[in-house]
Amino acid sequence: MKTADVIVIGAGIAGLVTALQLAKEKKVIVIAKGNLTECNSNLAQGGIAAVTTKQDSFASHFIDTITAGDFHNEEELTKTLIKNGPDAIRFLKRLGVPFDENESGELALCKEGNHSHSRILHAGGDATGHEIMEKLRAQLKENVSVIENEMAMDLLMENEICVGVWTKDLLGKKTYYFASTTVLATGGLGQLYEVTSNAKSATGDGIAMAYRAGAQLADMEFVQFHPTMLIKDGKGNGLISEAVRGEGATLINKNKQALMEGVHPLKDLAPRDVVAREIFFSMKKGEEIFLDISKIPDFQSRFPTITAQCLKNNIDIERESLPVAPGAHFMMGGVKTNEFGETSIPRLYAVGEVACTGVHGANRLASNSLLEGIVFAKLAASAIKSQSKLRVNTPNQPSILITKLQLPNKRELQKVMSENVGIVRNENGLRGAKQWFERFLLPINEDSAFDLPLKEMTMVNMLTTGWLIATSALERNESRGAHYRDDFIKNDNNRWLKRQIVRSRRDND
Ligand code: SIN
Repeated sequence: MKTADVIVIGAGIAGLVTALQLAKEKKVIVIAKGNLTECNSNLAQGGIAAVTTKQDSFASHFIDTITAGDFHNEEELTKTLIKNGPDAIRFLKRLGVPFDENESGELALCKEGNHSHSRILHAGGDATGHEIMEKLRAQLKENVSVIENEMAMDLLMENEICVGVWTKDLLGKKTYYFASTTVLATGGLGQLYEVTSNAKSATGDGIAMAYRAGAQLADMEFVQFHPTMLIKDGKGNGLISEAVRGEGATLINKNKQALMEGVHPLKDLAPRDVVAREIFFSMKKGEEIFLDISKIPDFQSRFPTITAQCLKNNIDIERESLPVAPGAHFMMGGVKTNEFGETSIPRLYAVGEVACTGVHGANRLASNSLLEGIVFAKLAASAIKSQSKLRVNTPNQPSILITKLQLPNKRELQKVMSENVGIVRNENGLRGAKQWFERFLLPINEDSAFDLPLKEMTMVNMLTTGWLIATSALERNESRGAHYRDDFIKNDNNRWLKRQIVRSRRDND
C-alpha cells in the first residue's frame, strides 16, 4: 500500500502538467501504464493553437472552434480555453520548448483545418508533442514520484468518495494507492478501431474505470477520425499531420483530381470530420486517396518525422504522393468535468482527453488538444491545491471477484467498432454492435472488482467504452460533427441547444 496527497493516473501532457503544478506543495505520484514516453501527447505532430499575433483574435479562435465543433461546444469553457492560450505558450517557453521560428526570428505559425488565421505553433518541424513532453519529463526528476509499467485496474471508493486506485504491474503484483485526490489523465481510446493514430495504451481505461465507479460521462458518441493516416496494405502507419495540408498539400484521387473541390468552401482545410467523411465515401466506392505534397518546398526539413515514416514505408517523397485514409484520432466525449476538472465523484478529477469539458463540441478543432491539456490541467491543479486532506482511516481494499469472462480478441472488437461505430453509422449497425458488446459484459455491482490479467482487463475496458460509444450513438438521432448517421443525415436544430447526453452507470442501474 502507498499513500500520497495526489495520485495522477497517466503521463501525457495533462497528467504531467497537473503533477508539476502541484509538486511543490503536495506529495504527488504519477502512474503510467507503460513507460513515460508511451502516450498520445508524445506523438502529436502539428502543434498547439493559440492567439499570438495582432492580426488574430480570441473571437476568431473561438468562432473557428465552435464552427468546427458544430455548435455543440460549452461556450464559457471554450472561451476559457482560448483566453488562456497565450499563457499556455508562455508556460511552455519558460520550460524551454524550442518553438520553430521563421527567418526573421518570429514564431513560424501554420494553418490547419478550419483555422481562419495562421496560429499553430510547432517545434521540431512536426515533432511538437515530443519536444513539449521532453521538457515536461525533465522537470519531473526532482519533484514527483513516477511509477512506470503499472496499469490502473480500478478506482478505490469509500462512501461514494474516490480514495485512490489499485494497480497491477507486468508481473501481476497488485498495489493499492490511497490519496486525498485522484486525477484521471489516461488519454483516449483510438485502439478501439482498426486504423488509429493513437498510442498502444489508448484503450479507454480511464473512461471505463470512471464508469464502473459511477461517474457521469458525456458526449460518448463523438469520436474524431483524422483524415490522413499513412496507409500501407490497408494498415495505418502513423499520422500525416494536418499541417501538411496547411502548408499546401492537396487530397487527390488516382487520376489526380482534387477530392475536396466543390465539397466545402475551405477545401482541404475544411473541418476534420468533413474531410474524413469525404475520403471515407470515396474509398467506399473503391477509390484510393493520396496527399499531393509536390507544392511544399523543402518538405523534408519542415516535416522530418513524416519524412522518416515515409522512408520506413518505402515511399519516395520526391516522386510519389502519400497514400492516406482516415483513422481514429481523438475522443471528444469522456468523464464529465467542470472547468476545474472536477467529476461527479468527490475527490476524483479528470484532465486532458479522458475528460469531457465540452470545449471541443462534436468535433475538435485542429491543435486545440495540447492547449486543452495545459489549460485545464492548470485549472485543476489550482483547485486541488486548496483541497483539504482526506482522512482514510481504514483503507478499504476491495474484495476481488475472480471473474472468468469469455472475452473476444482485440481484432474482433476493432472490426465491430470500425464497421458499425465508425465514421458513418446507422441504427442497424449500432444496434448490432451494442448487442455484440452485451454478450461479454457483466452487470457491475457496488463491490465488484475484476481480478484479471492486464491484457484481459484492457479488453474489459475496451468493451465497456465501445459499448458506451455505441449506446450513445444510438441515442443521438441526428448527424452532428464527428457523429454522422446515414439514417439521420441532418442536424436537428432543436437539439444542439440541449446539453449533450450525460450517461452514468447509476442512470442505468
Ligand atoms: C495533426 O498534426 O494533424 C494532429 C493535430 C491535432 O490532432 O490537433
